[in-house]
Amino acid sequence: MPASIVVGTQWGDEGKGKATDALGDRVDYVVKFNGGNNAGHTIVVGGEKYALHLLPAGVLSPGVVPVIGNGVVVDLGVLFEEIDAIEARGIDTSRLVVSANAHVITAYHTTIDKVGERFLGNAKIGTTGRGIGPAYADKMSRLGVRVQDLFDEKILRQKVEGALELKNQLLVKAYNRKAIAVDAVIDELLTHVDRLRPMVADTSLLLAKALDEGKVVLLEGGQATMLDVDHGTYPFVTSSNPTAGGACIGSGIPPNRMDRVVAVVKAYTTRVGEGPFPTELLDADGQRLRDNGGEYGTTTGRPRRCGWYDAVIARYTARINGVTDFVMTKLDVLTGFEKLPVCVGYRIGDTVHTEMPMTQTEFHHATPVYEELPGWDDDISKARSLSDLPDNARRYVETVEAMTSVPISVIGVGPGREESIVVRSLV
Ligand code: GDP
Ligand code: IMO
Ligand code: MG
Repeated sequence: MPASIVVGTQWGDEGKGKATDALGDRVDYVVKFNGGNNAGHTIVVGGEKYALHLLPAGVLSPGVVPVIGNGVVVDLGVLFEEIDAIEARGIDTSRLVVSANAHVITAYHTTIDKVGERFLGNAKIGTTGRGIGPAYADKMSRLGVRVQDLFDEKILRQKVEGALELKNQLLVKAYNRKAIAVDAVIDELLTHVDRLRPMVADTSLLLAKALDEGKVVLLEGGQATMLDVDHGTYPFVTSSNPTAGGACIGSGIPPNRMDRVVAVVKAYTTRVGEGPFPTELLDADGQRLRDNGGEYGTTTGRPRRCGWYDAVIARYTARINGVTDFVMTKLDVLTGFEKLPVCVGYRIGDTVHTEMPMTQTEFHHATPVYEELPGWDDDISKARSLSDLPDNARRYVETVEAMTSVPISVIGVGPGREESIVVRSLV
């Protein structure tokens, strides 16, 4: 069987967790391939709310094997806290598999993330402060600690010593902070070893065998296309590749085994942290979207910046990821707006761009060109087929669908697992 990929389209929090969870009864493996506990996925099942950070969304489905792939950066303390919290609510996490090649987030990564942001002042990125950027930086600098290193104490000590030699200089001399002791880091990491050992595997081999046996594998992206370190709004991005190409790298599944690429897109746009956002609304409409959509971060609780739907970004995402299907979430949040502007281009200087501009400088100066669509007032949360939607809601979906030429296969009308219109099955 081929594998399918779920990616975010905008700046995160599109509802990827819900979209992945909803496929739980049709997939065998759900693989997280990038990011770490910067992600926050809220999933509502039978009125119960679950907030997942490191665990793949598939963990809530009894038959699914959740996999943390090699592309993820893992804070082991957070992982075990999350496992304990979810087990206490009756969810079985015993099938979880963690890649031996995944990198580990240590105390010095979270410290440097937070101190570094403070040091940047107005130029800060607005990170989640979870140590994500510093951990990926160490991976690329070949200074990282991998899950497998915890099983060889001599190697672990060598690596932590090597990393801290440089970082303590930075902490003490540049940031005016206390040095971090090698032993403290090692002792903390070693407390997790016994619990971690049975979960660890060569996950690329495991997944290759699963695919050979005809199992259904779903790759779940954290973050989103506009936060991709290569294809997003650099430097206001995360430090991984949440795009479809990243799914191959972060899982070890090659491109020719991938089939569908499902992109989750909100019916409007949100962003957390700093960086450009052309359709952002700083007025009452923005606040109304925030209130109606409950737009407060699952991870940091920060209010999300809100704005209208951006078709330029949707088209860009479709191209970068090779999207085969869109899942449009939160259509219900638009209920009650009289007019719904949709961004169809950017005015930059005297020119209107209908593709993402080449440079960030241009993107920072982009003002949206809107096409206005009529709104609707009827509650749509009970709609389960397109024909249940009011005419203007259907027209909204069909109009934005035509703008990307990629089918919208699922439409979200509420946070619950069942609150969706499935036009075309995703797996
Ligand atoms: P993720 O990070 O992409 O998984 O998204 P988050 O979980 O951070 O944010 C999406 C929020 O929207 C969550 O609170 C979901 O419960 C909620 N949600 C998802 N789909 C829908 C939908 O169709 N309608 C409404 N009203 N809420 C939704
Ligand atoms: P999910 O998976 C929304 C944002 C942060 C910050 C930037 C860099 O829930 O969609 P980082 O801590 O990754 O170095 O922060 O990226 N960010 C997210 N925004 N949803 C997320 O994940 C995010 N993960 C990171 O707010 O602007
Ligand atoms: Mg989220």
